[in-house]
Amino acid sequence: MRTPARPVDHLEPLRSVSVAARADRPGWPPRSAIVTGASSGIGRQTALLLAEQSCTTLLIGRNGRALDEVAAATGGHRMAVDLAEPTASNAVAARARELLGEVDLLVCSAGLGYAGPFEAMTPATLAELVAVNVLSPLTLVRAVLPRMLERGQGRILLVGSVAGALGVRGEVAYSATKAALVGFADALRSEVGGRGVGVTLCLPGVVDTEFFSRRGTPYLRRYPRPIPARRVASAMLTATGRGRAEVWTPRWLVGAARVHGAIPSVYRGLAGVFG
Ligand SMILES: NC(=O)c1ccc[n+]([C@@H]2O[C@H](COP(=O)([O-])OP(=O)(O)OC[C@H]3O[C@@H](n4cnc5c(N)ncnc54)[C@H](OP(=O)(O)O)[C@@H]3O)[C@@H](O)[C@H]2O)c1
Repeated sequence: MRTPARPVDHLEPLRSVSVAARADRPGWPPRSAIVTGASSGIGRQTALLLAEQSCTTLLIGRNGRALDEVAAATGGHRMAVDLAEPTASNAVAARARELLGEVDLLVCSAGLGYAGPFEAMTPATLAELVAVNVLSPLTLVRAVLPRMLERGQGRILLVGSVAGALGVRGEVAYSATKAALVGFADALRSEVGGRGVGVTLCLPGVVDTEFFSRRGTPYLRRYPRPIPARRVASAMLTATGRGRAEVWTPRWLVGAARVHGAIPSVYRGLAGVFG
């Protein structure tokens, strides 16, 4: 039986998250969701927000203890699995069928970073980055999409990065993996958008999570300042509910992207500020 989500301290109120069911938003708010990366950071905050909307979640990560904590706080189910394993996505989808029945929402937040000169990257690190950041969301979407299309209902929320749109020096391979999600989201939206399945891509800037300590290179810039993971989770869920194609967090990053697209030479001059 589900236990209600415990209130979490230091979190912002939920005003910005759309909770009301509306006829023009079938399947929203979601009653069931898979959340990858649920053991930490943005994924964890997303799971907490979903629980506050009475959504039953399947929480995915590797760290069993962290998953236990989130499961206790949300009443969700948990599954510890390494998404870099080729069989992981099908196993997650099968478990979701058992535990959730239908999946209204798939949130792909699991990801890892890498910072350092590209020429120093080992093939094994490169392969892991691609496996977790690219292959895992693609294969997971592939696993849940047929049933969403059959139902004519479902939402896919992909956590990309501003690095995938603008390209960040010192994060070459990471930028490339996140750029893959930009193309994936665009193409998929175009292919399935008219069949009841929404695809939203979130492009966060710098977020205050363990992402930087995990990749082994701390975030040292004074600007832009890291924003809370809760803020990103709230913004991307709201955008998903509204059927938005993209959400940039913080929003001013859109300006950087517009400069990049319209006047690339000016952008390159400012790249020290943005990237
Ligand atoms: N933080 C930022 O500044 C920032 C900016 C832009 C985009 N992003 C993106 O936001 C997403 C979430 O990152 P975050 O900031 O929340 O970082 P985080 O706190 O480090 O969380 C990363 C999550 O990914 C999971 N994960 C990593 N490798 C995995 C694997 N092989 N198998 C299963 N799960 C795996 C981790 O699970 P376990 O610990 O349980 O293994 C953890 O739950 C990522 O896709 C990241 O690229 C982050």
